[in-house]
Amino acid sequence: MKISIVGTGYVGLVSGACFAETGIHTTCVDINKKKISKLKQGIIPIYEPGLDDLVENNVKKERLLFTTSLAESLTDCLAIFIAVGTPPDEDGSADLKYVLEVAREIGRNITDYIVIITKSTVPIGTAEKVRKACQEELDKRGAAIEFDVASNPEFLKEGAAIADFLRPERIVIGVDSPRAKGVLEKIYKPFLLNGHPIIFMNIASSELTKYAANSMLATRISFMNDIANLCDIVGGDINMVRKGIGADSRIGNKFLYAGIGYGGSCFPKDVKALIKTGKDYNHPLTLLEAVETINDAQKAVLFNKLLHYFKGNISGKKIALWGLSFKPNTDDMREAPALTLIEKIQQAGGSVSAYDPVATEEARRILGDSIEYANDQYEAANNADALLIVTEWREFRMPHFDVLTKIMKHKAIFDGRNIFEHEDVLEHGFHYECIGRNNNSYI
Ligand SMILES: NC(=O)c1ccc[n+]([C@@H]2O[C@H](COP(=O)([O-])OP(=O)(O)OC[C@H]3O[C@@H](n4cnc5c(N)ncnc54)[C@H](O)[C@@H]3O)[C@@H](O)[C@H]2O)c1
Repeated sequence: MKISIVGTGYVGLVSGACFAETGIHTTCVDINKKKISKLKQGIIPIYEPGLDDLVENNVKKERLLFTTSLAESLTDCLAIFIAVGTPPDEDGSADLKYVLEVAREIGRNITDYIVIITKSTVPIGTAEKVRKACQEELDKRGAAIEFDVASNPEFLKEGAAIADFLRPERIVIGVDSPRAKGVLEKIYKPFLLNGHPIIFMNIASSELTKYAANSMLATRISFMNDIANLCDIVGGDINMVRKGIGADSRIGNKFLYAGIGYGGSCFPKDVKALIKTGKDYNHPLTLLEAVETINDAQKAVLFNKLLHYFKGNISGKKIALWGLSFKPNTDDMREAPALTLIEKIQQAGGSVSAYDPVATEEARRILGDSIEYANDQYEAANNADALLIVTEWREFRMPHFDVLTKIMKHKAIFDGRNIFEHEDVLEHGFHYECIGRNNNSYI
């Protein structure tokens, strides 16, 4: 069986490599010539644990190919997955220009039946737009070629993407034709051996499922952040509250961590896009509007604590940041809380020295030389007036506090990820603030 994946970003490249791993002959297409040329040389453009080995192995076995030519990839191809970006448009809706351009190119080039599957996160009605765009091109050619459209949103998590794709908790597929259903059942059969379900539904439900899933997760985060801020006021401990509510099986204990707001390439834009869909259909999603408002405010919480501690003046102060990526195990900095923090610190006259295990290159691409990039966490903290924990990389969890006491100019730690225990930090004479655990009177 031969398939194509268009777009070799986090989703396209991981999907392509994982499909190839099952023996499917997979061609990955991207318009970015530099990216494809790098991939052909075995250079992986993103940081994703295990991806380099998976790509190398499947390229070697000639099951995984890279090209800039979509037309070339269509030869004998039974299904084509669209996995290009869907960035937010000015009004918050998902910008479909890349998706629809791919649909038109497919229409210009197919010679035989194919299933066109949107794997990108796209709003309700997009599969129909894809069908129309492809059909218009076929009509221009006067070609009577059958094709189907389908929706197959992707639920992988950056940092654990390969495991998520190879052993999915569920596969959601929206189809409206038995033929397309048959093709997708065949493609996904190898991924279902662990008993996890493939859930077929109509296309609108499938398109909505992805937005609903991300919005639900974002809601949990904003809810916990809101409660954490209340904890700080009333003397509660958000970790205890989390344990207390997470023990209820109706709530569950996952995804209940307070912090400095959600970021990344998905939650912010998907919440925005779903709010926009609600407005378009005259059904305002007021809960999600609140989720977004809470998140925007949460990204400033650590900065506000820092500013309050220095009595409103951090001018001339050196602030160390541990972590830049929006979460651990990725170099993705899209909508990362670190970016908001850095901007605020700089606007207030402070300077930033940062260390991240993998995101430095990506940060440099975005921020240039406006901050200092350290080679390790202690170099970042050297001579700093305060240390901010921004991303909960594992290597930050057990630092040498005795070293920090010696190298930092001022002993203050603001922990945006709640990775330290009060007693460990206080024992070394640090001022310590975290999120929703600032009054430990229960101990
Ligand atoms: N990143 C994630 O964790 C994640 C998870 C689930 C779903 N998604 C969704 O999947 C989609 C892709 O996300 P991503 O993070 O992989 O994006 P990305 O920005 O990393 O990659 C998109 C790729 O598409 C390519 N592209 C754009 N137009 C093209 C065209 N006409 N032909 C060929 N290639 C083209 C770009 O060059 C780029 O390499 C988005 O809709 C996103 O919301 C992302």
